[in-house]
Amino acid sequence: MTRQKLKLGAILIGVGDASVSELWRDPAVPLDASVDINWYTSQAREAEEAKFDFVFIVDSQYITQNFPHHHLNRLEPLTLLSAVAMVTNRIGLIATISTNYSEPFETARRLASLDLISSGRAGWNIVTSQDPGTASNFSRINHGNHDQRYQRATEAVQVVQGLWQSYENDAFARDRTAPHFLDPAKLHRLDHQGKFFSVTGPLNIQRSQQGQPPLVQAGTSAQGRELSAQYSDLVFSFARTQEEALELARDVRARATRYDRHQNEILFFPAVSVTIGDTDEEAQRIANARFSASDIQRQLASLSRQFDGHDFSNYDLDATFPLIERKSDAGIERFHIELAEARDTGKTLREILQAQCLSWLQITGSPETIADEIANWYVNGAADGFNLFVHHPSDWFYFRNRVVPQLVERGIFRNEYETKTLRGNLGLKIPENIYVHNRKVVKMRRSKKLRTSNRRTGNQGGLS
Ligand SMILES: Cc1cc2nc3c(=O)[nH]c(=O)nc-3n(C[C@H](O)[C@H](O)[C@H](O)COP(=O)(O)O)c2cc1C
Repeated sequence: MTRQKLKLGAILIGVGDASVSELWRDPAVPLDASVDINWYTSQAREAEEAKFDFVFIVDSQYITQNFPHHHLNRLEPLTLLSAVAMVTNRIGLIATISTNYSEPFETARRLASLDLISSGRAGWNIVTSQDPGTASNFSRINHGNHDQRYQRATEAVQVVQGLWQSYENDAFARDRTAPHFLDPAKLHRLDHQGKFFSVTGPLNIQRSQQGQPPLVQAGTSAQGRELSAQYSDLVFSFARTQEEALELARDVRARATRYDRHQNEILFFPAVSVTIGDTDEEAQRIANARFSASDIQRQLASLSRQFDGHDFSNYDLDATFPLIERKSDAGIERFHIELAEARDTGKTLREILQAQCLSWLQITGSPETIADEIANWYVNGAADGFNLFVHHPSDWFYFRNRVVPQLVERGIFRNEYETKTLRGNLGLKIPENIYVHNRKVVKMRRSKKLRTSNRRTGNQGGLS
């Protein structure tokens, strides 16, 4: 089996997350970028010109004043992607929806709508929501513990995928002379009764030409990996080293075989941020200057979010990373890995913030250096693609115009879209409607049985 080419996604994050707390001061970033639909559409068009596979919209539903700037004032993913769909033709549109704070019927319907609006380019980033405060915005007292959130996520995905099977492709006659508008035999109820949801269906919207939106999942605890193994088409991660990325891919792929899935059905996308200069030295100078101009208190607040709300504001920035204790079960896996990493490096709190070594892969260098590093991860199987944070416009410009052409030249990235759908461009199969599939299986079994009994009785069948 020949390997798919490298895939690229662009995370559109407006005025910036915590890792670039000074981004909003960049004169090339509109001050209202995170709520400016023209900003999103222009970024998406640029990504499409560079033949990116998708734009990716992260999301959450809880803030305090200390949250990253982009979180404070941003558009809702499906609403904004519907607008992006109207001015783009090929690029995929991946929206984040939390299973913990949504009803699967609504999720299925909204994503199916985006999928039809975009002619088969929608995708779903499934998240379980990390911020316990979110409960207070949804009339709930309880956020649910880690296990419960994943159980709910698993059931939600089953219901959503079940609802996406409601209509067979030819359920509607689409012929004014036909006896009926709809063939009722090709519309299916779900009748789901589970621990968290009770949903009869059917869904009131048909499938798109990609069958159903691909699923993305990013949690890396045992439960997160199991969810990915069972359902994800893409695994988004914050792997910072190739070893970390390879371990994740090996483990999820091994788990996937237990669900009768082929290993290559799941694609792995580490997140990456880049700082690009004409030379490696210039890029490093830019990175240093940005760190000096950054708001340390906001970076500490973001670190706090990563470490279970721990307050870092009173620590000596030039002392080694403090030993802290976990209070809740939010992001269990990363809490321990990151704490161990922070302490093992012997770096000070300030150095940890500057290197951003607790966030995700950061590459600083010339376009050649960036292309080398990306190619190296891809060739070693540590990444099938990368999900690039779109931060400073200068880096975005360099990436599209200097890094991407090098990846094309090296033969590892496309110079034209292969198909019109997100699934097609990612090289993922279009799933057949389950009812059509089941009927085919029954028919096949019947004819096999008939052939066997004919052989036994000496009846050759056919014309005689
Ligand atoms: C790369 C990555 C991206 C994520 N994006 C979001 C997001 O956009 N919104 C959100 O609410 N949670 C997001 N999460 C949180 C996860 O959905 C999950 O709740 C969290 O990682 C805890 O699960 P775990 O213990 O399995 O890692 C993200 C996590 C990772 C690792």
